Formats: sequence, structure tokens, C-alpha cells
Amino acid sequence: MESPAALKALFETRLAEIREQDDWSRSLYRPMAYILNLGGKRVRPLLLLLSYQSLSGKSAKTALNAAAGVELFHNFTLIHDDIMDRAPVRRGKATVHEKWNEDTAILAGDAMFSIAVDLMVRDFPEFAAPLIREFMRVSVGVCEGQMEDMDMANAPGASINEYIEMIRKKTAMLIGGSMSLGAIAAGSDQETVAAMYEYGEAIGIGFQLQDDFLDVYAKEEKFGKQVAGDILENKKTFLLIRAMEKADASQSERLKSLLFEEEDPGLKIAGVMAIYEELGIPKETRSHIDAYFSKAERMGAVLAQHPGFAQIDAFLKALMQRDY
Ligand code: IPE
Ligand code: IPE
Ligand code: MG
Ligand code: MG
Ligand code: MG
Repeated sequence: MESPAALKALFETRLAEIREQDDWSRSLYRPMAYILNLGGKRVRPLLLLLSYQSLSGKSAKTALNAAAGVELFHNFTLIHDDIMDRAPVRRGKATVHEKWNEDTAILAGDAMFSIAVDLMVRDFPEFAAPLIREFMRVSVGVCEGQMEDMDMANAPGASINEYIEMIRKKTAMLIGGSMSLGAIAAGSDQETVAAMYEYGEAIGIGFQLQDDFLDVYAKEEKFGKQVAGDILENKKTFLLIRAMEKADASQSERLKSLLFEEEDPGLKIAGVMAIYEELGIPKETRSHIDAYFSKAERMGAVLAQHPGFAQIDAFLKALMQRDY
């Protein structure tokens, strides 16, 4: 059973082979090679590999293409997400639509999605149908979540329940899906596939809450994204929704004028952050992140009988500590 660090090295080697194929020098493929080459934590492929090796008892090498499938899918969603979020920076470098243009970013994303599906089933023809069904279930869910993210940014308010449902779809379904796809490729029964999915989905909710927190409070050099981009885009993050709920009348007025009238980005960010501080939002967000991850850990307890599960648990513990 390989450690997460060993799996990461194996995965990067396989990904480099994909990126360096001859025909990836053509214009449609250059943005794909570019974004895959910028690094990234590789959370989803590692979860797929960890799930696969734990449940199959086989070498994770067999699942490297499937792991590349989830990473390509993830990168496709990032390319399109950056257009929607008007994001200038990804993984410390210019986003694909900034470096090229939106047309190229849309097409490169679409092609990446198609290649991702091919990679997912390539080494598991016997499980192709359940793999594709699970992958497409997740894919539709991500689109629903992204649509809700856009709709909520344009709506005056939102509830925490709506927010959790939105992040469950846009982020947690793919993290859950990485676990369930690894389980399907391992030939697991439906009950185990579902338990792996639920566990991964619970991790994914904590992961997106953390992303919302880091969007405001991480160091840009390390996080690799424009700091406070969510504030600039009026994203209904956990932080903003709780601030709207907790604000008194005068804070509420200030918040509205910052969100809808302030044109200077620096003043907007500083003003919203000052309100977050006054309302104790950073501390409250941290404690929610901990609570969601603790829930995921408790769900993992029923999976602990699988060999190698301790590695998945250790991976989760490391993820809980991330600051980028
Ligand atoms: C970013 O995902 C998008 C979210 C769902 C928050 P990651 O934080 O996994 O990004 P990379 O792949 O490590 O760059
Ligand atoms: C992204 O959510 C979820 C996706 C499906 C890509 P965000 O918009 O918060 O992700 P980042 O912060 O740009 O990585
Ligand atoms: Mg987004
Ligand atoms: Mg974004
Ligand atoms: Mg974000």
C-alpha cells in the first residue's frame, strides 16, 4: 500500500506523460498543459487512488489514468469557473482566459472534460458503465452547484442552508465522487461505494468552507488566487451570509453600500473585512470548518475496517490543517 506522498509522485509522473504527448503542442491543448503544469494539491486524484488501493488490495498504479480523469475534470471546472468568477490568477499564474481568451478557455475546458471521461474508463472496461454513470452524476451536480453560486451572487440574500446545498454540489460532489469512483474501479459493492461517497462529500463541505475562509485570509503567494476575489464578486460565502445575518442596522447599511456601491476594490475589501472582524466572522468560520471536518471523521469511522483506511484518515487530518 503506497503512502499519499508516494502516490503523489506516481501521479505527477503519469500526468506529465499526458501533458507531454506530441499532439498536446497544438493550440487547443496548450492551455490544458499549462494549467496542469501549474501544480495544485491534487486532492481529488489522491483520494481516488487511496480509495482504490484500500478497497481493491491492488497496486494503485492501475488507477493512475482514472485519477488523471478526475484531475482533468477538476481543471476543466477551474478554467470555466475562472471565467465566471472573473478571476485573474490561478495557482499563482494568469488564468487561462486571461493568458489566452475566453473562447479558447471554453474550448480547452470542453475538450479536457471529454479527455477526462476517456481516462476514467480506459483501464476499467469491465466497470465502464457504472464509472461513467457516477462521473456524469457528479458532473451534472457540479453544474447545478455552479449555477446556484451564480444565482446567489446576484440575489440580495441567502440562507446558510442554501449555501451548504450549493457547496455540496459545486465542490463536495466531486470530492465524494473521487472516493466513489475509486471504489467502483476497485469492484466494491454498492453499499461500500455509497459509504465512500458520503464520507468524501462530508470532507468536501469542510474543504469549500475552508476555501471561502482562505479566499479572504490566506497569503496570496501561497494560496495562488487573488485575495478576496469572493468579496469583489459579492459571492455568498459562509462569511458574507453570516455577516448579513449578524449585522445590526448600521452595519447592514454599511455592508449594502460596500457590496452594491463601492467601486474602489481596495476600499470594498477593507470595508467588508472590517465588518467581518467586528462580528467575529473569522473565528465563527473556523469553528464551522472544524465541526464539518469532525463530522467527516465520524463518518469515516465505519470505513476504518478497510485495509489502508488509516492513510485516508491521515490524509484528511493533513487537509484540515491546510493554509493554501
Ligand atoms: C479549488 O480546488 C476549487 C475548489 C473547489 C475550492 P483546489 O483547492 O483543490 O485547487 P488546486 O487543484 O489545489 O489548485
Ligand atoms: C469553485 O468554487 C468550485 C468549482 C466547481 C470550480 P470557487 O469559485 O470558490 O473556487 P476557486 O476559489 O475559484 O478555486
Ligand atoms: Mg466559483
Ligand atoms: Mg472561483
Ligand atoms: Mg474559492
